[in-house]
Formats: sequence, C-alpha cells, structure tokens
Amino acid sequence: MRAAVCRSYGPPSVVAVEELPSPTVGPGEVRVRVQAAAVNFPDVLIVADQYQMKAELPFVPGSEFAGVLDDGRRVFGSTFVGAFAEEVVVAEGAVTPIPDGVDDVTAAAFGVAHRTAWHVLRSVTSLQDGEELVVLGAGGGVGLAAVQLGAVLGARVTAVASSAEKLAAAESLGAAVLIDHTAGDLRSALRERLPEGSDVVVDPVGGALAEPALRSLRYGGRFVTVGYAGGEIPRIPLNLVMLKGIQLLGFQFLTFALNEPEALARNEAELLELLVAGKAVPHVGATFPLEETAAALQLVADGQAIGKVVVTLG
Ligand SMILES: NC(=O)c1ccc[n+]([C@@H]2O[C@H](COP(=O)([O-])OP(=O)(O)OC[C@H]3O[C@@H](n4cnc5c(N)ncnc54)[C@H](OP(=O)(O)O)[C@@H]3O)[C@@H](O)[C@H]2O)c1
Repeated sequence: MRAAVCRSYGPPSVVAVEELPSPTVGPGEVRVRVQAAAVNFPDVLIVADQYQMKAELPFVPGSEFAGVLDDGRRVFGSTFVGAFAEEVVVAEGAVTPIPDGVDDVTAAAFGVAHRTAWHVLRSVTSLQDGEELVVLGAGGGVGLAAVQLGAVLGARVTAVASSAEKLAAAESLGAAVLIDHTAGDLRSALRERLPEGSDVVVDPVGGALAEPALRSLRYGGRFVTVGYAGGEIPRIPLNLVMLKGIQLLGFQFLTFALNEPEALARNEAELLELLVAGKAVPHVGATFPLEETAAALQLVADGQAIGKVVVTLG
C-alpha cells in the first residue's frame, strides 16, 4: 500500500510517500481502506517529536480518517498515528459508522475538532443561549468548530483570528463580531466591541492572546484553555481571576473521556445528530492528494489552514 512515512523527526518535509506492506489485522482490530484523512495540529508535533507522546520511527502519521471496512461498511475514527495511508488497522471500538448522506472528506474532518469544541461548549463551559462567546484561533480547526457550535447553542460569537479570510469563514459559520488581532491591541478591540464583557472564552492558541481575552470576561465568566497552537503556554496573573470571580477551566480529550464517560456519550450522540442535520459540518479549507501530505502538514504547521485540511485517497 502507499503511505506517507516519517523516517526521521523534523519539519513536515521529512514525510514522504512510499510503498509499504499492508498492515496485519490482529484480534479485536479492523482494517480501514482510507478514503480521506484530516490533518490535526498534533500530527505536526508528532512528526517533530515535540508531542507529549512519542511515535517510534519509522511511522505513518495521521490521526483521523474516514474509509471502508473489509465488509464494506463506511466508518470514520481516530488513532494516534497511521491514517495517512491507503490502509490503517485500528481497534474495532475506534470506528463509528458514517451516517448516510455524509461524504468521506466531511467525515474525516469532523472527529477531532468538532468533538473537542462540543465537549468544551456543552460540558466544560455549559454555554447558554444568549451568552457572549469569544473564540481565539477562530479560523482554525477547533476554533471554527467552536464558532459554528457556539452559534448552534444560541451564543453571540466573537471570532478572533489573524486574517480577513479566516474571519470570513468564521462569519459564514455564525460569528457576529469579527476581530483581526493583527490589526491592533486585542484588549482594546474586545473592550470596544463587547463593552458589557464576555461570558466565555475558548482558547486553542495560548501565547499573548490569552490574557487580553481573559480580561474581556465579565464577573463570573469562564475561560477554557484547550491548546497552545501559538507555541507558548500563557502565564495568567491570578489576581485577574480573583477580582472578577473568573472560572479558569481546561479540556483535554483523553482525560475528559476517562473521567466523564456519561457526558462523553451524551455529547457524542448529540453531535452526530447535529452532523446529520447539517448543523455541525466542518469547513474544509484545503484538500491534498496523499503524495502531498507534507504540504498538508506544512499548511497546518504554519497556522495558515482555514478550518480543516484533508488528505484524500481512493
Ligand atoms: N485539548 C484537546 O483535547 C485538544 C483537542 C484538539 C486540539 N487541541 C489543540 O488545540 C490547538 C488548535 O488545534 P487546531 O486543530 O484548531 O489547529 P489549527 O487549525 O492549526 O488552528 C490553530 C490556530 O492557532 C493560531 N496560531 C497562532 N500561532 C500559530 C502557530 N505558530 N502555528 C499554528 N497556529 C498558530 C492560528 O490562528 P490565527 O492565525 O488566527 O491566530 C491558527 O488558526 C492545538 O494546539 C491542538 O493541539 C487540543
């Protein structure tokens, strides 16, 4: 089978397509003939050996996929590595049937970003109808999903991103207020556009944007830290948290899944219904053939992706 292989850690350009033997299927496992595989920011970190878990060399990167089982059923799912290949073998429990009417690219792009955003909004922040939601990295995978799903929950969404193109995508998915953080001071922009303050901040970026966003919260507001795509883990002065009675929250998929199995199951069922209803559809900003997997990873590494980037096979 053809697969995008990483034989030494480094930038995305170390990933190259080669011919590999088909993976063997063990007990309790299934083989998926991959039709589409979406790129996630951690894929870039895993290739660079900068992720919290290490993939032993050589390996095939790629962590979310849609494809066909040996028995013909269409499924989608996620894995640690292996998805940028014509075939991936995963545990039976790691795949879910693709609902009728949902195409492979959409199914591949749906899993990580939308699930993250939905668990964050539904369970971590309990976002309510009419609340003011601020989303950082609003043109990225998790950010755009949070914009879309925040609007579905009835919040008024402020999208913060670095370009007009990213903000246009956020607007098309329901953002009411658009802020380009490269155009000036984010703290002032948020104060001007949200004079009454915000209720919830979702932060998948970190770095220098986190503190001004946290300062936009009104009394009792909720700030949820989801990731550090900006490369820097922010240090927040805790007096800000004290003065406004802010709730500082965090979300990490694996620990959430382990500790909140009932909420996880409820949220995932709700989200699948939203997918089928066309209300939780990922925005796919770019697709690449398998041969160009390195370019797909580079787009995400550069923070230039709009919504999801998908590698297509088949
Ligand atoms: N906690 C969890 O369970 C969980 C689950 C999924 C993802 N995550 C994390 O959430 C973060 C965002 O994931 P994503 O899939 O939304 O990523 P993404 O699509 O690449 O979006 C990340 C956004 O971060 C901003 N950014 C700023 N500096 C950047 C840089 N140097 N490189 C890349 N992006 C930069 C960009 O927004 P602007 O250009 O608009 O500033 C970009 O759109 C990642 O750190 C990921 O690991 C965590």
